[in-house]
Amino acid sequence: MSLDWLAAAGRPLTGEIVVPGDKSISHRAIMLAAIAEGSSRITGFLEGEDTRATAAIFQRLGVRIDQPSESERVVHGVGLHGLQASAEPLDCGNAGTGMRLLTGLLAGQDFDSVLVGDASLSKRPMRRVIEPLAAMGARIEAAEGGVPPLRIHSNKVLQAIDYKLPVASAQVKSAVLLAGLYAQGETVVREPHPTRDYTERMLAAFGWPIVFEPGLVRLSGGHGLKATDIQVPADFSSAAFFIVAACLIPGSDLVLKGVGMNPRRTGLIEVLRLMGADISQENTRLQSGESVTDLRVRSAKLLGIVVPESHVPDMIDEFPALFVAAALSEGTTRISGAAELRVKESDRIAVMAHALRALGANIQETPDGAIITGGRLRGGDADSGGDHRIAMSLAVAGQCASGQVKITDCDNVATSFPGFVELARSAGFGLRAA
Ligand code: S3P
Repeated sequence: MSLDWLAAAGRPLTGEIVVPGDKSISHRAIMLAAIAEGSSRITGFLEGEDTRATAAIFQRLGVRIDQPSESERVVHGVGLHGLQASAEPLDCGNAGTGMRLLTGLLAGQDFDSVLVGDASLSKRPMRRVIEPLAAMGARIEAAEGGVPPLRIHSNKVLQAIDYKLPVASAQVKSAVLLAGLYAQGETVVREPHPTRDYTERMLAAFGWPIVFEPGLVRLSGGHGLKATDIQVPADFSSAAFFIVAACLIPGSDLVLKGVGMNPRRTGLIEVLRLMGADISQENTRLQSGESVTDLRVRSAKLLGIVVPESHVPDMIDEFPALFVAAALSEGTTRISGAAELRVKESDRIAVMAHALRALGANIQETPDGAIITGGRLRGGDADSGGDHRIAMSLAVAGQCASGQVKITDCDNVATSFPGFVELARSAGFGLRAA
């Protein structure tokens, strides 16, 4: 039986909260620490199912990983060529990031691997990583339609590639770069629009020579990684639900502490500000090379806008939350250039349109976005489609609906945001398990 939630108006959101560690950075920290020389300490590690699945995979590949305390890992790296074959398939759970980055990393090993995932991940497109990796000499088989499971065959000689990404995807970029560590020659990745650069920054922090600027990365194979400690900032994408809720719930004044502010992640703030949001940054500082800040969000009247397409890659995970903001704003919001939403953990355009319509919203789907005219939401049943970010966005919608909202299929929230219900309640949400 799946977990359902009941959401209804709570109180204005106030006080200070800390959301869990960044998912993208936690995955990468485990991966690079595992193939580095020496022991790396990761603090602020996300204790979500996705990132724990990645850690468990490296344990299967022969890496010792200690957990001295909650959200802390000490990874005893085995070096670039020290991983060992796993007799069992490697289970990435719900994590597209885990599977796509691992495909790149495992393509250059001298043993075979099989990557599997849950029902959602088993429907997600993997050709986008298989094609460039095959051009580097990797041998990878997918199921029909280019979906998992993936069989990755051993390969000792990958060749570098100069690759122009057809879609703006940090996951594809990172898969090519991780294979590039094992390749002969210089690997170059060119992006149609810059995407999150955590892999590049972290490779540099682990001592790998790499040159990168927005939209272009170069690295050569054959160097080594040296262990380093990593402090993971709070995940902007987890903060997003609270940012939108505090904008929408009258009387709110909420502070989110230590949020990662990589500019390739924070497009939602720019867009909410264009809509009239009152969001300020306090105590901005550097933490393990990433800018972090305390975000203060006060409620404000939001107006519909045309979302600039240039912001889309910088807020790709925040659209479910933005759909809710748009449905409760004054006027019409137009979203385009966001076709990637259709191949996330669910088809986020279709699932959000269906769920918000069930609550009375005026929302029209387009192939690459939506047209949403703001108004009131009523209570009702809204299906999350098993998508963690949609479940949490609908919990925000429930705070502003005139009646109780039942949100179905919420188990996967644990993939990225363990403790969401408790933290949301402490901030003022009306939310509980059904
Ligand atoms: C991620 C990149 C994005 C994002 C995902 C995490 C990453 O995917 O949606 O949640 O950690 O690199 P794409 O790169 O496929 O857009």
